[in-house]
Formats: sequence, structure tokens, C-alpha cells
Amino acid sequence: MTPLVLTGDCREMLPTLAPGSVQTCITTPPYWSTRDYEVPPLIWGGDPGHDHSFHLRFRAGQHTGYGDHQGPPKTKTGTCLCGAWFGPLGLEPTVGLYIDHVTECFHFLRRPLADDGTLWVSIGDSYANKSLVEAPSQLALQMRSQGWFLRSRIPWIKRGAMHERPSKDRLTGNIDYLFMFSKNPSYYYDPTTAILQRKAQRITDFFDLSWQGLLLDADGEPMALMVNQRHTKLEEDHYALFPNQLIEPLVELTTREGDAVLDMFGGVGTTGAVAAQMGRQGIVCELKPSWARLAKMGVA
Ligand SMILES: C[S@@+](CC[C@H](N)C(=O)[O-])C[C@H]1O[C@@H](n2cnc3c(N)ncnc32)[C@H](O)[C@@H]1O
Ligand SMILES: [Zn+2]
Repeated sequence: MTPLVLTGDCREMLPTLAPGSVQTCITTPPYWSTRDYEVPPLIWGGDPGHDHSFHLRFRAGQHTGYGDHQGPPKTKTGTCLCGAWFGPLGLEPTVGLYIDHVTECFHFLRRPLADDGTLWVSIGDSYANKSLVEAPSQLALQMRSQGWFLRSRIPWIKRGAMHERPSKDRLTGNIDYLFMFSKNPSYYYDPTTAILQRKAQRITDFFDLSWQGLLLDADGEPMALMVNQRHTKLEEDHYALFPNQLIEPLVELTTREGDAVLDMFGGVGTTGAVAAQMGRQGIVCELKPSWARLAKMGVA
């Protein structure tokens, strides 16, 4: 099944999907303040009827200690007198505004998501004024207050390309979080899948670069998802690629064959490609036309 690729802002594209047609969404929004993807800026909040006038400027470069440190943003952002903000997701002046915008995007998922559907969100943190901003926790709490059921928080131990910049005055964490939300208290989840039946891995395997998958404890219970990332040409062009090994267990756990799997911040379409390989209908929504084109070409 070839993935369906929607090019545009997820807030505009998701309403074009049939109600209840998506079984699970597996996605990762741009993280706050870590990089400028140079995607088309959008208008957020404020008075929709107002004839906006934005005071545009470059935001002062901020050393977040995360990401690929491409230096200060290349995109101008600004605010209108009515309160609207103009800019790309992730370059908001405060983490609070960023969380508002991400939560707003997920609100548009509620209609196309099946009543027994789920949402997996991977999100990482950043630093501001020497402190971790706790973006993952803030997102989780705000999603919960908007009616989502917060079912789990799984650390995703990252190795390789994308990691926190080490500093001499603290330990370095290479962990993002994978949240599982559901639309309703009960939802489709298959605990008998192969991924949960795997034999317990020895703890030493954790240090073996060739190993990737669920890190299980001595009783065979999953402790964390560890995924090694390899540098590919694609990663040089688009840094925040989802590794296939992260997506496969999630598809297996929360969909049946033929179900639709959406990635609403789709990038070059990794989720869609994995879904298709697993006999699901992949749907990819991506704002940046050049990446949406790559997703259509099936490069992932
Ligand atoms: C962290 S990347 C996702 C990468 C993806 N997981 C992959 O493997 O290619 C986030 C993506 O969200 C896109 N994006 C940002 N704002 C968006 C919006 N409002 N609607 C849809 N996509 C958006 C960015 O262009 C970027 O490609
Ligand atoms: Zn305005």
C-alpha cells in the first residue's frame, strides 16, 4: 500500500481525513528551540478576523545544549497586537507558547482518530537559562488537561547522531520520551504481539552497538526502547529521522493489518514507509514541500 502524502499544515490537512479513519498516529513534532527547520512560518492564536501586522525579527540565538547546533534561527518570527504569533512550530519565544501550539495541532487529530485509537508522541527536552525546560512533562500535562488519556511514558534511549551537547558541569542524558495517549479509556492494543514475547536480552547487550530494540529486564519486562542511529545521506538533509526500529513495535501493538497509521509531522515519511511495509495504510502529513516530495518518492 503506497503511503498517502498530504502537503501542508496539519491543522488544515487533518480535517480532510474521514472521521475515525486513523487507528494510530506515531509522530514527533519539531522540538522547542533546538533547530530551525526553515519550514514556512504559520499564524497561531490571536483574533482570526484581525488584519494582522507582525513585528518580525530574528530571535536571539540561544544555546540550548541540544540538537545539532546550527546557530541562531534563520527565520523571522513576530507577534501581532491581537496576540497572534507568526513563526514555525518550535521557534516560539517561550516553551509555554510552544506547548500550546503542539497541543492545538493534536486537537485536530481527535476527529480523524478512531474512538479506539492511540497517539504516540516522541519529544525531547532543551535548556533555557541553564535549566532543563521539561518540555516533555509540560506537553504530557497539557494534553491530559485537554482530554487525552496519558497511558505511558517510555524513555527512548538515543545513540548516535542526535544527542544532547555534553557539558563539564553536569551529566549528559541521551533520552527522549515516547508518550502514549489514547482518545478514550479503552483502545486497541495487542499485548500478544511478537515484540513483547521476545526473549529477555542480557543487560550487556545494551552496550553492544549492533543491538537495537526493547531493553527488557530480567523478568522479560520492557524497560526502555533503545535505538541505534546510523548516519545516512538522508539524515544529513533531515536530521530528526525516526528510526524504523522505533516505529515497528508501536505499529504492531496498536494496529491491525489494513489499519491507517498517520504521522502528522511526517518529515520524509519514515512512519508511512514502515506502515506500508507492515501491511498498513500509511498517511504522512508534512508542511515543508521538499520533504513531502521526498516522502512521496518513498525515500525513507
Ligand atoms: C522532527 S521532524 C519529523 C521527522 C520524521 N519523524 C521523519 O522520520 O522524517 C518534524 C517535522 O514536522 C514538520 N512540521 C512542522 N510544522 C508542521 C505543521 N504545522 N504541520 C505539518 N508538519 C509540520 C517539519 O517540517 C518537520 O519535517
Ligand atoms: Zn492580529
